[in-house]
Amino acid sequence: MSQKMKIVAAKEAIKSVKNNMNLGLGTGSTVDEFLKLLSFEIKNGLNIFGVVTSEKTRLISEDLGIPLTSLKNVKSLDLTVDGADEIDPSLSLIKGGGGALLREKIIAYNSKKLIIIADKTKLVSKLGDFTLPIEVSPYEHEVTSLKIMDKLEEIGYGGSIKLRFNGVNPFITDGGNFIYDLSIGLIGEPYIIEQLLNSIPGVFENGLFINLTNKVIIGEDNQAQVIEK
Ligand code: 5RP
Repeated sequence: MSQKMKIVAAKEAIKSVKNNMNLGLGTGSTVDEFLKLLSFEIKNGLNIFGVVTSEKTRLISEDLGIPLTSLKNVKSLDLTVDGADEIDPSLSLIKGGGGALLREKIIAYNSKKLIIIADKTKLVSKLGDFTLPIEVSPYEHEVTSLKIMDKLEEIGYGGSIKLRFNGVNPFITDGGNFIYDLSIGLIGEPYIIEQLLNSIPGVFENGLFINLTNKVIIGEDNQAQVIEK
């Protein structure tokens, strides 16, 4: 996605931010553009509080002077703006390319509205070309990954699963967990897969976001395409 398209999407999303809102702040390079615009509005008098979905977003937000709070202080959020790795026609998503899926899902779940900003390469007719990130406990994680494949096989899905690495060491999430990236081809039944994965002990969350998104903003060269539910 070109930088320009990210900025176009972020500019459209900033129009939904109103004074005195509590905002969920997503993670990723597209959200980074939104954070820059948000910081500009705050310097011009906008009053908001943000709740971050990752330590990376916390650092960037603090640097940009965005006032932060935590979910327990505000109970729920008026709006969350986040990115995505894949978006299907029903606005179901695969997220977690950046490894922040657990915190992102907690924030999306506790938000009155979720706006996703992305470029048009993220639009797909069916989810599953992008590997599905799954956040698991490091404890006996190899067995958890085998169990994931067993359970999927029981409902007719085959494929492969790989522990995510950061150089020579496993990638560690902000919560201290591991990520497995799952390839099972196109996902015909995202809701069933989401529930099945989360029912396995050792799995904390997976990157399927179903029925959480209200609006998708697709950045194009000079304009934004808005898809609403
Ligand atoms: C992080 C995410 C990101 O929102 C997703 O990977 C999209 O990132 P980008 O805007 O850099 O393409 O889910 O966990």
